Amino acid sequence: MASVNSAFELLGIRLRATPARWLVTGCAGFIGSHLVESLLKLDQSVVGLDNFSTGHRRNLVEVETLVSPSQWKKFQFVEADIRNLEACRQACSGVDYVLHQAALGSVPRSLADPLATNSANIDGFLNMLVAARDARVRRFVYAASSSTYGDHPDLPKVEQTIGRPLSPYAVTKLVNELYAEVFGRCYGFPSIGLRYFNVFGARQDPEGAYAAVIPRWTRAMLLGEEVLINGDGETSRDFCFVDNAVQANLLAATSDNLDAVNQVYNVALDDRTSLNRLFELLRNVLAETRPEIGHLKPLYGDFRSGDVRHSQADIAKARRLLNYSPTHRLEQGIRVAMPWYVSHLTASSLCGV
Ligand SMILES: NC(=O)c1ccc[n+]([C@@H]2O[C@H](COP(=O)([O-])OP(=O)(O)OC[C@H]3O[C@@H](n4cnc5c(N)ncnc54)[C@H](O)[C@@H]3O)[C@@H](O)[C@H]2O)c1
Repeated sequence: MASVNSAFELLGIRLRATPARWLVTGCAGFIGSHLVESLLKLDQSVVGLDNFSTGHRRNLVEVETLVSPSQWKKFQFVEADIRNLEACRQACSGVDYVLHQAALGSVPRSLADPLATNSANIDGFLNMLVAARDARVRRFVYAASSSTYGDHPDLPKVEQTIGRPLSPYAVTKLVNELYAEVFGRCYGFPSIGLRYFNVFGARQDPEGAYAAVIPRWTRAMLLGEEVLINGDGETSRDFCFVDNAVQANLLAATSDNLDAVNQVYNVALDDRTSLNRLFELLRNVLAETRPEIGHLKPLYGDFRSGDVRHSQADIAKARRLLNYSPTHRLEQGIRVAMPWYVSHLTASSLCGV
């Protein structure tokens, strides 16, 4: 796969020449912090909003180390909750583009506490839509989810064919799409939804019951703990390196193609990797520097409720309308992210954090 992306590179040149003001909600989280980093590196002005419910101040501290002092000066952080409409209004003031990432992720979290997921992901989302509409932002790009495909069996997943949601989390992400569509129809509000499929990379939280599979397993392997696979390991996912998700956001926000607006897009690779294969990949990459990890074998447990069995994105629509062209396949992304996991997990476990 090519390591350069011409539409995206051209966009970088254009943005540097005519900087804009961006709002990234969920900026202290995994994907949000990568959006902030990329935008600052392109000399954009960025307002970041977060309430630290699942994100971390340390992610923003790390971003500061990755950009120049003059770029960091263009970042303004607002500690606020998207469930507060007035806070959303203030954050949207004078903003050109909104990249709305703030939400409570995780299917199991939503099964354990559907009210919390509903209020952040639906009430908070609606607040952001109202605030962004009234601030007349140029575009509102939001984090949708592959969970919206629910129980529909077709593979690969094509945007217009969805099934019934399998979890409260999936309901909230579907409702986001419905609200965005209705705001387009009723108010002419320009939005784009990006259905992420299992995004991974540096700064994805490895801790806690709701950690995503790649950081959770990597952590377990590094600390010599058991890796538990839910089910038989043949469950499959289209794992998407975070740089690909960043690219989709920036292309979606700035696309001049009117046909591209008020649409939803799959964001992944059009690839499918079983959990068994993912285990092997992570183990083999880690074993290159830590041979003892090469002997690890997984444990198998029950299937997890609310989980979709197979997932794979058809990305033709994003390629066609947004010029999306992923730069990293799974193994490339793992190799880029791994040094971060090794250094951070080793450091945090040594400090007992
Ligand atoms: N990571 C994935 O694979 C994936 C897949 C599909 C969709 N998504 C969606 O992408 C977005 C970003 O996910 P992520 O993986 O970076 O998760 P994350 O938990 O790392 O980031 C979410 C951020 O939103 C913040 N937040 C949550 N509720 C908030 C509230 N009420 N007010 C203000 N801030 C709030 C959190 O503190 C956190 O910093 C989410 O909307 C998620 O549902 C992620």
